[in-house]
Parts: sequence; C-alpha cells; structure tokens
Amino acid sequence: MNHFISMKDFSKNEILEILKRANYLDSTPERNLCRENIVSTLFFEPSTRTRLSFVTAAYKLGAPVHGFDSPSGTSLQKGESLRDTIKMAESYCDTIVIRHPKDGSARFAADISKVPVINGGDGANEHPSQTLLDLYTIQKEQESLENIKIAFLGDLKYGRTVHSLTKALSLFNAEFYFIAAPEIQIPDYLLEELREKGIKYQLLDNFQEIVKKVDVLYVTRVQKERFQDFSVYEKVKNNYILKAENLRNAKDNLIVMHPLPRVNEIALDVDDTKFAKYFQQAANGVPVREAIISLALEKFPFSREEKVQEEILKNSKSLCQNNNCISNSEETDNKIVHHHGRDFCYYCRREIKDVNR
Ligand code: CP
Repeated sequence: MNHFISMKDFSKNEILEILKRANYLDSTPERNLCRENIVSTLFFEPSTRTRLSFVTAAYKLGAPVHGFDSPSGTSLQKGESLRDTIKMAESYCDTIVIRHPKDGSARFAADISKVPVINGGDGANEHPSQTLLDLYTIQKEQESLENIKIAFLGDLKYGRTVHSLTKALSLFNAEFYFIAAPEIQIPDYLLEELREKGIKYQLLDNFQEIVKKVDVLYVTRVQKERFQDFSVYEKVKNNYILKAENLRNAKDNLIVMHPLPRVNEIALDVDDTKFAKYFQQAANGVPVREAIISLALEKFPFSREEKVQEEILKNSKSLCQNNNCISNSEETDNKIVHHHGRDFCYYCRREIKDVNR
C-alpha cells in the first residue's frame, strides 16, 4: 500500500518521480482522475495551508473530501482513541490525510489502516508533504536539487519541516547550516544521520555572514505550542528576525523560504524583495499534494525500489523514551527497529537507549 509517512521511506529516484508527477499536474489538469475515490482529512491540530491545499488538490483530481479540522465536535471528545477513529475513517474513504500532535501518530495510523495514510504532520517529527513542496520549490527556483547550500534559521528543534527537508536534501549532496539558539538547535539524532552519510554541516548562531554564501535561507517560526517550559520560549522567541536590510549582500540566486505560518521572524519588508518565495512555496502545495494523493490511490505507474528490510520487534509495553511518542499514549504494538546494533522507536524513530527486553 502506498502510505506517505516519512521522507526516509523514499529513495532519491522515487522523490524525483513524484516531483515530476507534480510538475505534470501543475500544467495538465486531471479533473476525473480520482472521481471514484473519497479523501478523508483528519486534522487533530490547526492548519491553514496543509489542509486547504490537500482539499484543493483532491477537488482538482475530482475526489470528494470529508473530515474534520479539529477534534472538537468529534467522538474524540468522548474519549475515543486514535486507533478507533482510524478504524472508522477507513471504512468511509479511500485515503486518509492525518495531522496529529503526537510523534509517530501517522506511522501508527498506517499500521492499522486498510487504506493508504498520508502524513500531514506528526508532532515535532515529520511533515513529508511539506518537504516535497519545498523540494519542488527549490527545484523550480534553482533548477536543480543537487549541491544546494541551505541555511535553516529559527526553531530547528521542534520544526518538523526542517527535519524532513534535511533528510530529503541529504540525498542530493546538500551542504547544511543550522542557525538557532542552543535551546532549539537541530536534534542530535539528525546530525548523527548527516555524519553517518559524510554530509557537511555547521551549527551557527548568526545569519548575517551566511546569506552571502547560501542558495536557500529556510526560516521557521518558534513553535510556542511545543515548549514544555514556557520560560525557554520567552527567552528565544525573538532571537532572529530577518529584515530586508539583512539581504543586501545576499547571493543573487538566494531564495528565502518559510513553511508558514510566520509570526514575526520575517519582517514584512522582505515580502517585497526578489528573494521572498514563501507564498509561491505554499501555492506549490496544490500540485505536489495532487501528486501525493494520486500516488496513494495508485493512479500513476510508480515502481518502488527494493529497500533493506529492517528487523522489527514487538514488545508488551512501550520502551520509547520520547514522552510525546504515540506509543506512550495509544495502545500500539510498541514496536522497535533494530538497526546496526542499535534500537529505534518504530513510530517516532528516536533512538531507544539501554533497551531491557
Ligand atoms: N506549513 C504548514 O504546515 O502550514 P499549516 O500549519 O497552516 O498547515
């Protein structure tokens, strides 16, 4: 089944193939392609772009859409589990788009669903459809995804778009600069993945010099809703604000991207510069999500490459040490992945240390 859960599930060629499909759909309307299919959008967290662009994409493919945009008004308020919600939704539709605050929730939903599941953002974990539209934007603006120099700025700890895009661009020999306050720097497990692949990166605390060097400056909002200690949010929330004057010495081909919503991290005067691409980036979500829906519904030929089979073990209780992991709030199979002598949570992919089975 063509679930769409993590960028790690796709090879470089597979990513390029989906982007090619998005490019085709951008110029060639396919109004009847999915008219026999129903798309369900289950959004347990707020969203403007992801939900509206998935709904628009489904309509453009001819598919009717139903769903909810917050848990209020659903039986979740009566205590229904995510598991039972998915078991219900699967009988009413042909594919599910889910956004949920728990890390690994989309993987869990895919595990129990009879229909393909598309991850619209799971906690601070991943946001792969955003990543595809980010790649699509970079490809269009820079002509190639290869050897891009990219700086991420802002909340790199909780910014799931940063995590997914880092994983994807590491397949294209990118060079990374991570600019953030120490409290919200990029997680170690992602840096470790880059080191394992021999990919160049630097951690920085200032963006002024780097705008002269990079092709992409990817700015993110400090994600207030994910901080457990609010005083840390107050300390870091205004650390970086990009203004037009900061771009005076930028490389000519620089593009400024942002997954949006923004709060104050990009001043309005940047919108009027040639570098600002974030609204076009969000608009690119429609053809890209058309491609993802048509992939899930198997509407175009897509050959999956052979992947190394991972060793997956089930447990009687959750061993994941990530408090926000779905395995610590739902009845899952508490699976762990054994990989190169180490253990990782199957759902949120965090390493599990000192497993005592
Ligand atoms: N970029 C993004 O995920 O935006 P929304 O939260 O509005 O969907």
